[in-house]
Amino acid sequence: MATFDTVIRNGTVVTASETFKADVGIRDGRIVALGEALTDASEIVDATRLLVLPGGIDSHVHISQPSGPGIVMADDFTSATRAAAFGGNTFVMPYCLQAKGQPLREALKDYHALAERHCYIDHSFHLIISDPTDAVLGQELPALVADGYTSLKIFMTYADMVLSDYEILQVLTVARETGALVQVHAENYDAIRFLADRLERAGNTGPYYHAKSRPIAVEREATHRAISLAELIDVPLVIVHVSNREAMEEIRRAQQRGLKISGETCPQYLVLTEEDLKDLGMEGAKYVCSPPPRDVASQQACWEGLQQGVFTLFSSDHCPFRFDDEAGKLTPGGRTSFRWIPNGIPGVETRLPILFSEGVSKGRITVNQFVALTSTNHAKTYGLTGKGSISVGYDADIALWDPKKTATLSQAGLHHGADYTPYEGIEITGWPVATMLRGRFVVRDGALVGPEGGGRYVSRSAPAAGDRGPA
Ligand code: URP
Ligand code: ZN
Ligand code: ZN
Repeated sequence: MATFDTVIRNGTVVTASETFKADVGIRDGRIVALGEALTDASEIVDATRLLVLPGGIDSHVHISQPSGPGIVMADDFTSATRAAAFGGNTFVMPYCLQAKGQPLREALKDYHALAERHCYIDHSFHLIISDPTDAVLGQELPALVADGYTSLKIFMTYADMVLSDYEILQVLTVARETGALVQVHAENYDAIRFLADRLERAGNTGPYYHAKSRPIAVEREATHRAISLAELIDVPLVIVHVSNREAMEEIRRAQQRGLKISGETCPQYLVLTEEDLKDLGMEGAKYVCSPPPRDVASQQACWEGLQQGVFTLFSSDHCPFRFDDEAGKLTPGGRTSFRWIPNGIPGVETRLPILFSEGVSKGRITVNQFVALTSTNHAKTYGLTGKGSISVGYDADIALWDPKKTATLSQAGLHHGADYTPYEGIEITGWPVATMLRGRFVVRDGALVGPEGGGRYVSRSAPAAGDRGPA
C-alpha cells in the first residue's frame, strides 16, 4: 500500500505566515506530510508553477434564504456550493434565518434539509436571531451553542429583522455567557426609513437612491453604537460588510482601545461604487446591496483596513437574485421604489480571484495576507478546527492556484444560479485551477468532478474570544 493517497508535487505552499516549496502528502483526507520529493503515492499531482493554498473559507454567504413575498434567492445549496468550488472555496458558512416567532431548532431543521446531500463543499451555519424571545435567549441559544452552532448574526436594520438596542444587549449577554460570537449588520434603521420616505416623496425612486437612503453616516453611527453595546457587555463582536473609512476607523479605534472587535469587508467595497447603481432604467438594481458600494476614497479605505489588519475577514456576502426575473431584481415593487428591490449580489465564485488580482497581483497585499483574509482567519474566528491552513494534521482542503493565469470575469464563465455578475468585464490575473476537498478533487481542469453531497456539515467549537487571527 502506498504511503500517501495523493502527493501534490513541485508546488509553492502558502500559509498565513510563510511561503515555501514543498510537496504535500495526503492520506485519508488529511495533510500528513510536507517535505521534499514525496513520491510513494497512489496519485501524483504536478503543481509546478502553481500555488498550493488552503481552500477558501467564505464565512458570509446567503443560500436559499427566504427574502420576502414573491422573491426567490437565485442559489440553492447545489448551485451555490458548485460556484464556490469553482472559485477555489472548500467551505461556506451560510445563514440560518429565524423567522419571527419561529423556534431556532425548527429553522435549523429546514436549512439542514435543504443542504443535506446537495453540497459540493463543507459547510456550517450561523444563526440569524430576528426574534430574541425569552425561550430563544434562555434555552434555545445556549443549547445550540453547546451543539456547535457557535456564531450568530443580528441586524440593526430591515423591518423584519431589526433588533432594538435593548434586545441587542440581551443577545450580547447570552453570547458572553455561552462563548458564541456575534456578527452585526450595522446600519441605522430609523435613519434609513426617514431618508427613504423623503426620497420617495421627492420622486427619487430609482435604484441609485438605494445608496442615497443609506449614506455613510447611517453605517458609521450604527457601527459606533454596536461597538459601544459590546463594550458594555464586554463581549467580542464582528462588524460585517464594512464599506467605508468612517466605519473602518470606528473599528480601528475600538481595537486600539483593546476591545475585541473584528472587521469584515467584501469585494463590492473594493471594486464597485454607487455610480454603478446609476442607470435611468433598472440596470442599477444589479448592484443593490446593503451597505451600498460607496466611492473610490471608500475603496481605498477598505484596502487600508485589509492591509493594516483592521479587517481580518474578506467574505463575499453572496446574496444572489436573478436580474431578469420578477422573483428577483425586477420584482414589480422595485419598479415603483428602490425600497422593494431585493438587497444582495452574487459573489461566492469571484471573491478569491478579485482579491488575488486586485490585491496580490497589483502589490497591495502579500500572498500570505491573502491566505489569512480568505481562509485561515475565517477558521480561527469561527472556531473551525483543522481547516484553513496547509499544515500537517489539517484537512486536505486545497486550492491549486495559477498566479499568472488571466481571465475576464463574465457571467458566461460562472456557475452560480444568478443570471448576471456585478463584476462583468473585470480583468483578473490569478485563477484557481483546481479545488480539492478532504483530499478529493471537486473541480479539476475546469470541470466539476466532485459529487453533489460530497460536502459535509461541520459542527464548530466556541471561537477563541478576541482572537482576531493573523493580520
Ligand atoms: O445586501 C445585502 N448585503 N444582503 C444580504 C443580507 C445582509 O445584510 O448581509
Ligand atoms: Zn448584513
Ligand atoms: Zn450578508
